[in-house]
Amino acid sequence: MHQFIFKLGNDIEVSIENTFSKQSLLDIASDHDIDIRSLCGGAGVCKKCLVHVEEGCQYLEEIKNQQKIAQNGPRYACQTVLTSGANGKTVVRIN
Ligand code: FES
Repeated sequence: MHQFIFKLGNDIEVSIENTFSKQSLLDIASDHDIDIRSLCGGAGVCKKCLVHVEEGCQYLEEIKNQQKIAQNGPRYACQTVLTSGANGKTVVRIN
């Protein structure tokens, strides 16, 4: 079981458990009515779905080659998936 915490603004956090591996951050958020900006529906072309991973990057992998990013830092939600067998916590800030 993996836990996601999506931070929305300064004082709103949404905690999600029991996510499925290989789901994108965009899909996980969308399944729980959390809005991440997307103009291309997750096709990886609009570059509007940028989120900041504050904790738990080790549980994530990228679908496509993104520009190399810091261990924790910004990444495209539609191009980042939960690794299979992840069992921990990932904190994502949505701007
Ligand atoms: S939703 Fe368009 S690039 Fe991620």
